[in-house]
Amino acid sequence: MTRESASVSAGDVAAYLNAQERKSMLRFLTCGSVDDGKSTLIGRLLYDTKLIFEDQLEALESDSRKHGTAGENIDFALLVDGLEAEREQGITIDVAYRFFATEKRKFIVADTPGHEEYTRNMATGASTADLAVVLVDSRQGILRQTRRHSFIASLLGIRHIVLAVNKIDLIAYDQATFDDIVANYMVFAKDLGFDTIVPVPISARFGDNITTRSENMLWYKGPTLLEHLETVSIETYALSRPLRFPVQYVSRPNLNFRGFAGQVASGRIAVGEEVMVAKSQQVSRVKEIVTRGGKLTEAVEGQAVTIVLEDQVEVSRGNMLVSLLDRPSVADQLQAHVIWFDVNPLIPGRSYILRTETDSVNCSVTALKYEIDVNTFAQEAVKSLSMNGVGVCNISLQSPIAFDPYKQNRATGNFIIIDRYTNATLGAGMIDFALRRAENVHWQTLEVDKKARALLKHQKPAVLWFTGLSGSGKSTIANSLEKQLHASGKHTYMLDGDNIRHGLNRDLGFTPEDRVENIRRVAEVAKLMADAGLIVLVSLISPFRSERRLARDMMDDGELVEIFVDTPIEECEKRDPKGLYRKAKIGQIANFTGISSPYEPPENPEIHLPTIGHDPQELAGRIFDFLKRRGEN
Ligand code: ADX
Repeated sequence: MTRESASVSAGDVAAYLNAQERKSMLRFLTCGSVDDGKSTLIGRLLYDTKLIFEDQLEALESDSRKHGTAGENIDFALLVDGLEAEREQGITIDVAYRFFATEKRKFIVADTPGHEEYTRNMATGASTADLAVVLVDSRQGILRQTRRHSFIASLLGIRHIVLAVNKIDLIAYDQATFDDIVANYMVFAKDLGFDTIVPVPISARFGDNITTRSENMLWYKGPTLLEHLETVSIETYALSRPLRFPVQYVSRPNLNFRGFAGQVASGRIAVGEEVMVAKSQQVSRVKEIVTRGGKLTEAVEGQAVTIVLEDQVEVSRGNMLVSLLDRPSVADQLQAHVIWFDVNPLIPGRSYILRTETDSVNCSVTALKYEIDVNTFAQEAVKSLSMNGVGVCNISLQSPIAFDPYKQNRATGNFIIIDRYTNATLGAGMIDFALRRAENVHWQTLEVDKKARALLKHQKPAVLWFTGLSGSGKSTIANSLEKQLHASGKHTYMLDGDNIRHGLNRDLGFTPEDRVENIRRVAEVAKLMADAGLIVLVSLISPFRSERRLARDMMDDGELVEIFVDTPIEECEKRDPKGLYRKAKIGQIANFTGISSPYEPPENPEIHLPTIGHDPQELAGRIFDFLKRRGEN
């Protein structure tokens, strides 16, 4: 047996894969609930295949005696937890990839922490795996967690399952219980589309049926876990699939060299052959394939190379070199399955970043079609997708990306959703297909444009966005400003939250989802009005940073002026012009901003107006002067 390092980072894994001849390699992950024995199983596999370093082993034996829960036996969970601690110091991923090998095969196992809220880690580990070992505690049988993980595994394109019925020693190696659990799982999993489901009764703690056949279960005739992992046949369609080469970066070390660096996601690329740039559809020929180890004549799936083309074509990061005969979709609207990880739900209309392997664009969900119940697979109508939820949605992108349906290509069909402020990963997605409608709705070119309209009005269009608590004085100040602008001959229009909620937004309430939609619609209207050449005053609580940012991004540069009407909540409550705070406090109004729904103050408004001690007219005057200085009036 080969001795190899037992824990490596994700980057190392990729490098390792590229360096190795691509013989038999199985990537798998283990999933299960917290106490199902994942750590013990991985520790046991590493131990039984003799891959633990001697010093780690010694430490383990003494630690087991000190802290372990396994008496005189080695507590394998301690081994994995120890590696986890190591990982915490240096590597910032939540999934540890452990490497081991036997004579028959090499393995990469993704070790994913298993708490209910760790769907994220599981999804990360599963996106490149061939097989999932689903661990079940034989005393508990199939749990909600088991079903969730199996469902996510199937969504992520895993074709092979090992149902490891663990802790079989604790039920006296009882065949009937094992058979029951297996039957139960088979009924659940029949529609998940796995190619193989192999149940194995095991005791990770004592090593039954892990690498050697258990003496305690003579009734079991199937393979041991390792035997199965060594022999399960994994389809490789590496070369039969069309070329996809997502460009990670443009390498330009000197004026004479311009290459496109990346990893071949599928198919092969060869010197002399024609390739197409996915987004622009330009065609060129491969001149050179460069690697650190020298030049190649061809490269295949998994290899990291730099491609030099014969022609000077524009290829930037996020673009793809592809086969001429079989091209990916290029679209800015798509349907996808999304798994949500974050405590804050996914809200349609909210702006996020969608990141593929190499591309990154602003996006929003235009329709959340349904959520899938992971236990019954029922489709449920929902307004938002909460943590651990799986939903199907339409997504609109700010600019087109190149991709394939996930079912055809996992590497070019997946994405993650990122928070625009914190950069946190909020969810993962699998693209179903491009939406046709994007192709059939075109921009109509209009001859009288924004500039011409504004010129006629002798003004610079602007969107003056007033945000602040209910009763803070937004509308009063905006009213006063509109009067001043009007008196000086400006063409204005006021979009006031209360008024719009009587018409255009009559269907919306005050849940976070409805507010996001309220603000999105008002921002769209404001954009049209600015395009008409108007100075638009928007008075909305607009409590969330995210949607104020969305509004800003929709307008031309510098067009939106954010005005924070800063009145402390105590003062608003005291004024309470509509009696709403009183009602909110006694629970007659739900989701009331500042009381039972958050208000996120602006961090960098163009104008900050603390109102206490100032009258509205004077405050409006300040905005008037600000606009004058900017040449708006
Ligand atoms: S926003 O949050 O979606 O921007 P918007 O400005 O349109 O709110 O509407 C706020 C107005 O609706 C308030 O001025 C208040 O008169 C009224 N209102 C009714 N219920 C609520 C509530 N739960 N929270 C805040 N405002 C409410």
